[in-house]
Amino acid sequence: MNLKEQVGKKAVEFIKEGMVVGLGTGSTVYYFIHELAKKIKEGLNVELVSTSVQSIELAKSLGLEVKDIEEVSCIDISVDGVDEIDKNFNAIKGGGAALFREKIVADISNHVVWIYDEKKDVEKIGAFDLPVEILPFAYNHTIKKMKDLHLNPKLRHKEGKILVTDNSNYIVDLALGKGFNIEEVKKKLSTIVGVVEDGLFINMCKHCIKGTEQGAIIIENHNYKRK
Ligand code: A5P
Repeated sequence: MNLKEQVGKKAVEFIKEGMVVGLGTGSTVYYFIHELAKKIKEGLNVELVSTSVQSIELAKSLGLEVKDIEEVSCIDISVDGVDEIDKNFNAIKGGGAALFREKIVADISNHVVWIYDEKKDVEKIGAFDLPVEILPFAYNHTIKKMKDLHLNPKLRHKEGKILVTDNSNYIVDLALGKGFNIEEVKKKLSTIVGVVEDGLFINMCKHCIKGTEQGAIIIENHNYKRK
C-alpha cells in the first residue's frame, strides 16, 4: 500500500455516525474519499461538503451526495492534505489550487485532520512555493506589488493558459525559500489589495496522520486551540 493510501484509509477511523464531514482536495484525500465511500455503502450515515469541484466530482462518481456548504450549519470534521508541514503544525497548502475553500472549510470545522506522507514533513516550510489566490482584476498590478515586496511571484498556468480556480480567481506561487519569515510574509500580503487568501495554514489542525514505511502515525497537536 502506498503511503497516501495508508493515511487516507486511516483517516476514516475519525469519522463517526451522523457527522458533517469536509472533504479536502488532492491525491492523498483521493484515498480518504474512496474509503469513506465504502463505509457509507456499508451503512455509515454522514453528510458531506467539499473544498473543491474536483472532490465533489470524485465523491459523486462514487455515488455520494455532496451538500452545498450553505446547507449545513457546522462541519464536525474535515480531512485534507498538505504540501509541506513543520513540527509546529505550520503548513503550506494550495498545490492543487484549492487553498481558499480549503482554508474556509478548515476555519469553520470543529476538528481538522491533515493526512500526508512523510516526505511532506519538513524542518522548515518554504522549499515548496507558497500559493496565493488573487483576483483577476488588475492582476498584473497585484503581481507587481508582490515583486516590489520581494515575494518572488509567479502566475500559475495550466496547459498554456492562466489557471483559474473554482472561485474564478488566479493563483500566484511565491518562491520564498525554506525558512522564510512567516509573520513577515503574512504582513506583506495583508497590504496587497488583490490578494484573496494565502496558502499558509498556521496551527489549524488538531490531528495529523503521517504515512511512514512503518505504518501510519497519528500526531496530536497539543497547542491547537479552537477559535
Ligand atoms: C490542494 O489545493 C492542496 O492544498 C492539497 O491539499 C495539497 O496540495 C495536498 O495534495 P496531495 O495530497 O495531492 O499532495
